[in-house]
Amino acid sequence: MKITLSVLKADIGSIGGHIKPSQALVDEVKNFVKENGKALIIDFYLSHTGDDIAILCTHERGVSDEKIHKMAWDAFLAGTEVAKKQGLYGAGQDLLKDSFSGNIKGMGPAVAEMEFEERPNEPFVFFAADKTDPGAYNLPFYLGFLDPMYCAGLILSPKMSDGFTFRIIDVGYTEKDKIIDLNAPEEIYDIAALLRDNERYVIESIYSRNTGNQAAAISTTRLHNIAGKYTGKDDPVALIRVQGEFPATGEVLAPFQIGHFVAGFMRGSHIGPLMPCKLKEVISFFDGPPIVTGAAFCVKDGKLTEPADVFDHPYWDHIRAKISEKATSIRQQGFSGPAMLPYSELEYGGIVEKMKKLDKKFQLRD
Ligand code: F6R
Ligand code: MG
Ligand code: MG
Repeated sequence: MKITLSVLKADIGSIGGHIKPSQALVDEVKNFVKENGKALIIDFYLSHTGDDIAILCTHERGVSDEKIHKMAWDAFLAGTEVAKKQGLYGAGQDLLKDSFSGNIKGMGPAVAEMEFEERPNEPFVFFAADKTDPGAYNLPFYLGFLDPMYCAGLILSPKMSDGFTFRIIDVGYTEKDKIIDLNAPEEIYDIAALLRDNERYVIESIYSRNTGNQAAAISTTRLHNIAGKYTGKDDPVALIRVQGEFPATGEVLAPFQIGHFVAGFMRGSHIGPLMPCKLKEVISFFDGPPIVTGAAFCVKDGKLTEPADVFDHPYWDHIRAKISEKATSIRQQGFSGPAMLPYSELEYGGIVEKMKKLDKKFQLRD
């Protein structure tokens, strides 16, 4: 059976600052999807990670389907009403347009979608990250799909012997989608040259070269490219099919032990290590640290199993403790140097005004 997996995610308000959405908001969105998705979707799973709420659904309508996107947009609007009633912080924050115009992409919420023929067994992982941006997935998915140091299957499994094609998007170019397809292993230096710049080049999708089948879909929205100014970090979601011709679940998870430094954290304006957390994790230290959660599923005829929480294991407690040390360490240098993002990536325009004022006060000495 050919199915589509769609995940649509937004920050539409949270409790106590950026901590987590309220139960009433989550219930409202869930009930909305249950009621209004009846004729459209086969199954769905509603989740939250930090201050973001995500609708993962299965259907047969293909990617970028207007009705699916409209249903999610309306669900987020309904949730926003509850957020407003409860006085939640940032109510409707990611809904950047006044009216729906055919596709939720470009309107604020993040989207990742994939259409494929179901395999006899179809495992996949749904990742959601908060207090960071889409480039946060560059390193883990680079390592998980093309580096045999992390992905043993590249050496051991004949089904993966041809490697993978990476579709990379230039998120700095706003006229149209500007994309490039590069093949691993032949072009890994080119892939690395692009992916080193997490704020400009982002993995959008990955394909098996053995079968041509799609393995990964990642949301690549940059909110500031929509609003013309910074309105919040882009808190990306990703769908990764695993096993068989794709990396094993554990191979995709392995690079998350690095806790690599990503953009985001407090006020979306700092650098912090990405911490793999349990499902429904909240935001805390310095409005962070940046977090990622993973829900693994199997799907049959579009019906989802219950999620398995991929980072809920004693191994990851140990990793979280190490990453906490990294977070503490970089926070000790406050605003200095690489701890805070460069001007182009700061979420606040105010500092530019401050610099203009200060510039006038400078004196030229002979
Ligand atoms: C990301 C996120 C942050 C905020 C940023 C600004 O989920 O919430 O990037 O957008 O901290 O917050 P406010 O609007 O409180 O200044
Ligand atoms: Mg937010
Ligand atoms: Mg968020």
